[in-house]
Amino acid sequence: MGAVFYHYVRHVVVPRSLRSVLRFRPLELDATARRLARCADVDDLRRVAKRRLPGGVFDYADGAAEDELTRRANQQGFRDLVFDPRVLRDVRDVEVSTTLLGRRLPIPLVLSPTGFTRIFHPEGELAVARAAARRGIPYSLSTMSTRSIEEVAAVSDGPKWFQVYVWRDRGLVKELVQRAAAAGYEALLLTVDTAVLGRRERDVRRGFTLPPKIGLGTLVDGAVHPAWTYAFTRSDPIEFANMAGDGSRDGTTAVALADYINSQFDPSFSWGDLDWLRSVSTLPVILKGIQSVPDATRAAAEGIEAIALSNHGGRQLDGSPAVVRLIRPVVDAVGDSMAVLCDGGIRRGSDIVKACALGATACMAGRAYLYGLAAGGERGVDHVLGLLDAGVRRTLALVGEPSIEGIRPDLVRWP
Ligand code: GLV
Repeated sequence: MGAVFYHYVRHVVVPRSLRSVLRFRPLELDATARRLARCADVDDLRRVAKRRLPGGVFDYADGAAEDELTRRANQQGFRDLVFDPRVLRDVRDVEVSTTLLGRRLPIPLVLSPTGFTRIFHPEGELAVARAAARRGIPYSLSTMSTRSIEEVAAVSDGPKWFQVYVWRDRGLVKELVQRAAAAGYEALLLTVDTAVLGRRERDVRRGFTLPPKIGLGTLVDGAVHPAWTYAFTRSDPIEFANMAGDGSRDGTTAVALADYINSQFDPSFSWGDLDWLRSVSTLPVILKGIQSVPDATRAAAEGIEAIALSNHGGRQLDGSPAVVRLIRPVVDAVGDSMAVLCDGGIRRGSDIVKACALGATACMAGRAYLYGLAAGGERGVDHVLGLLDAGVRRTLALVGEPSIEGIRPDLVRWP
């Protein structure tokens, strides 16, 4: 019907003289494809996500701790950094792949772990893992995921990492990391910035719980976001899939995340306990949440394989420095002793190029793909990965650098 109408408008209503100068885009009948085609960057996807998700759900992903200074600084830091480009260089074939922990990555990108991913789209972690695997991009599964270690492994033969929180119950940590190893995950991403949960004030104001509680506010919000509400009410109940069946920990009753985390996670875990983690798993350990040069050098001295400079997207300590500002001082301090990843504020391929010029081995991104997931499910994630991939290639060509691994350090400077 839509196609007939389109044909009629194009060939009958519009006069020939006008037709010769008018250019109609082919009509896209698939609503998701249409929506995604209009998203030229990650910010566009964020706007679509904001429109489609109930406010509390959007704010859980989009929000950060306290005044959100660090969240903004992460993005602003990338914007402040400028290129010192070169022209007239042969950039016909730019090489964007790189090596991390002995594995070749198609672009210097790893997907960050995100909790509760199914609240953004019923396909949740499975959609993200599939989209990542299709491109060979590593996907990190969160401990607080809403699909289990094994469910994700069943749909993805791509590289996978498992994110670890240290529970008071060490037996549970041991069980989880051993399940991850058995399911083929290649590395453990130990989050070290969450001794207690940061205060996400958007969640506090909304009284947001996980899973989202059906109160009057949610009903009203749900009514104005019918697509989300329809999908949410028809999909499997939200639970912490890795702890399924464990009534006290599986999250099947609504919890304020701070109460849950502060009662379950162990704030006493410290440097001396890393050996314990390494004693229960042979997988390489990456410390995610390093925010200072002394901690980076300590990690190198401990023989850690890699660190991710991260402030949890500004969701933990507000006032922690922009991640991009830490890269060069950290890389200068630790040299080649370990890989240095950078997580926080990545929205464009050019951000990835900037981070690599500062010395990062690769970047990680979480919110960027969540916006895509909320906007268009698996295809939305794929759209984001495509934008980032194309952005890295285009930026390298425009700055006159034929290879991301050989990128010159003085390509970027703070003005
Ligand atoms: C969990 O890690 C969160 O940031 O909400």
